[in-house]
Amino acid sequence: MQRIVIFGATSAIAAACARRWNALGANLFLVGRDTPRLETLAEDLRVRGGGSKVAVASADLADTSGHDALFDAAEAALGGIDVVLIAHGTLPDQAACEASLDTAMEAIQVNALSYVSLLTLAANRLEAKGDGVICAISSVAGDRGRKSNYVYGAAKGMVSLFLGGLRNRLADKGVAVVTIKPGFVDTPMTASFDKGGLLWASADTVAKGIVSAVKRRADVVYLPGFWWLIMFIIRHIPERIFKRLSL
Ligand SMILES: NC(=O)c1ccc[n+]([C@@H]2O[C@H](COP(=O)([O-])OP(=O)(O)OC[C@H]3O[C@@H](n4cnc5c(N)ncnc54)[C@H](OP(=O)(O)O)[C@@H]3O)[C@@H](O)[C@H]2O)c1
Repeated sequence: MQRIVIFGATSAIAAACARRWNALGANLFLVGRDTPRLETLAEDLRVRGGGSKVAVASADLADTSGHDALFDAAEAALGGIDVVLIAHGTLPDQAACEASLDTAMEAIQVNALSYVSLLTLAANRLEAKGDGVICAISSVAGDRGRKSNYVYGAAKGMVSLFLGGLRNRLADKGVAVVTIKPGFVDTPMTASFDKGGLLWASADTVAKGIVSAVKRRADVVYLPGFWWLIMFIIRHIPERIFKRLSL
């Protein structure tokens, strides 16, 4: 029986993970900032989960001062923590970030610095326990800076690098660190995008990959897997060519 904490649980991808873990009998502690949606999700899981525990906490995760108390509450509710999934995020408007430093810094706060805080606290707790899995959702956008979304991409790039360092630190401490790099996913975050084409995946397809990656204690996982090849090619385009492209 796994005890799983999900930060950003109302995200379409995280909610799909919660449904899959709930079906497997896991006990869940869900953290989100939209209390009514969080309660609705939890109630749905309780009905389907037949006996599994589902507890919730509301928090704006951009405010890092409350993070430690959230881990305390999760440990109290679940009796310990085996898996941490960090999934919250925003997709800022790149032009707005260029026009306003405050907007850019807000995006960095929620998409990068709040992850640094949660990951540090999760790592210290699971390292002391000597077991567990920390999984966080980064993005293929973090693999290379592009003019269309480099503020979001830089935040995700920081998350990916930070996770790499944690994985190295915890490799012989019994704690697995899993980096998830989705490509284009059909969720509310991408509601304004034209979603035609083969590159788009559903939230549940990505959730299936996340649940599998956590179970396997994988290292870095592109979802769907073909994004590994796409990003391999994109990362290897020489900068003198890349800087003139519109990707
Ligand atoms: N969709 C994609 O194409 C894609 C691709 C690569 C990576 N990702 C990443 O996947 C993760 C999940 O996103 P998604 O696609 O499932 O989008 P989503 O459904 O829009 O979920 C984003 C979630 O983050 C929450 N959130 C944002 N700021 C928050 C804050 N300050 N405190 C607490 N919660 C906050 C939102 O809560 P509210 O509903 O209350 O705003 C929402 O539940 C994100 O990290 C995203 O960057 C997505």
